[in-house]
Amino acid sequence: MSNPKAPFVGVIAHHPGPCPVQGHGDAFHHATVELGLPATEYFRFSGIRSCAKQAGGLCSFWMGGRLALYQINNRPLLDDEYLAASTEANHELFGGFLGSLHISDPRRAHKRRVVEQALGSQRFIDGLKPEIFRLAGAYLRPLQNLPLCMEQLAMQWVSHVDSHLPGVLDCRVKTLAQYLEDDRFKGVVSGFFEQASKVISHDDAQGLEQQPALMPFVKDLLLSNFESIGVAPSSNLILGHFALWGLAFTRQAIAQLSQDQALEIGTIIIATYDTTALSLLWSMAYIETSPRVKREIILAATNDSDHAPHVIDLAVMEALRLGGSNPTALWRRTIKACEIEHGGQRLVIPADTLLWLDRWQANRDPQVFPRPEVFDPGNILVLQKSGDQPHAFCTSLLARNRYDINSFSMLNTRRNPRKCPGRLFSVQMQGLLLRELYGHYEVSSTGIDLSLRRYCAMPKPARSGVMTLRLKEGGHADEQHP
Ligand code: HEM
Repeated sequence: MSNPKAPFVGVIAHHPGPCPVQGHGDAFHHATVELGLPATEYFRFSGIRSCAKQAGGLCSFWMGGRLALYQINNRPLLDDEYLAASTEANHELFGGFLGSLHISDPRRAHKRRVVEQALGSQRFIDGLKPEIFRLAGAYLRPLQNLPLCMEQLAMQWVSHVDSHLPGVLDCRVKTLAQYLEDDRFKGVVSGFFEQASKVISHDDAQGLEQQPALMPFVKDLLLSNFESIGVAPSSNLILGHFALWGLAFTRQAIAQLSQDQALEIGTIIIATYDTTALSLLWSMAYIETSPRVKREIILAATNDSDHAPHVIDLAVMEALRLGGSNPTALWRRTIKACEIEHGGQRLVIPADTLLWLDRWQANRDPQVFPRPEVFDPGNILVLQKSGDQPHAFCTSLLARNRYDINSFSMLNTRRNPRKCPGRLFSVQMQGLLLRELYGHYEVSSTGIDLSLRRYCAMPKPARSGVMTLRLKEGGHADEQHP
């Protein structure tokens, strides 16, 4: 039985919602699941957003029978230990993935290390740069003068490069780009995070149906690429997981993987390319629709400018602010009572409260960004602090204790211990791909619509547009695909 009353009178503003019994529960479900609206849109037109805005960035509401708080800034409210694991609500999809373990679980450290020692290491990424350029360039060359769906281009390009990079996935025999075109697997390979996001952003438990398809994909991928993974450098994420499980990488061990193990490695593999690809799509779409920024980027990419911070890196961060690849709004659940501070007062939030962060709105906070709704690398420059080194500024923005932009955490918890361990790799990979694209090609595009696509829990442009590439004079035309 729900409670229609305002729970924190005089401390947190309350939005009652359309129903005296269910609050916002039914209306939210109707808007997101039936009408296909992004969660942030519901919060806007329902009035919750302006309620929070007038009350310092936070308000309460009832989501059916459950008490919920709605936040529209990136201020960390609490420590992670008060919250259920990030992927608790859809853990069936993720198997042994670390996101489904409570922050105090001792298994998390080793699991994070497998990803962080490679993708979180600047040295490792620096070592990959020549190979990223080579693979990225070779992939684009045959695509000149063809109309390219930008969404497919981003997905195919990133998954191709990720598949070939030594010490990352090493799926060179049958690449992820090939799986994305394989009728048996393309549904799960391209839709996995979309399904998972429906559970936490759209309150749509049907997302959980996807899980059985992941297991056959993982086994097929590992067996098909057995030879290339078997001889990969030890930083390889798949070998790292076999070591973590105490298994030798053999065909027999692959055949006998438990469901938990298969889903865990499947999640990691898909996380590697799917999230970067969607972020890259936003980067390209914003650059293509912002003539001034595009001109600056072409200049910087063509002259291989060393000006720090580099405008391409700023543009990647700016596109992560406005777009990114994490739902527009999502929740995590408190598992015990905890104290938070709001408007100079302290109050206790009970266990089983849903904490909603509208990151779409928080990333457009007018108190932080001078031109909150506009794609402008200047919005990122204002975040520079006196101690930030110009060359490493974008990296310092990604630190765990920086909360300026939310794209790599579900909620902003203090010191963000779950902040994505793949973020450095992903951001720098995008920068390198954009240097290749704008440094060697004349790029034109049509049909981009940056408003949010309906019936998508992951944020996607309503129309991602069509891109055409023409090799610039003096571009490298004769190399082949790897
Ligand atoms: C633009 C690209 C990416 C975005 C936007 C992104 C976003 C996120 C987000 C929002 C989380 C949830 C953190 C939390 O629970 O609060 C996360 C966690 C995670 N991401 Fe990423 N990610 C990206 C790229 C990657 C890549 C390339 C990998 C490589 C394997 C990766 C692996 C992970 C892992 C393992 C976690 C779980 C961390 C933990 O629970 O401690 N991500 N990511």
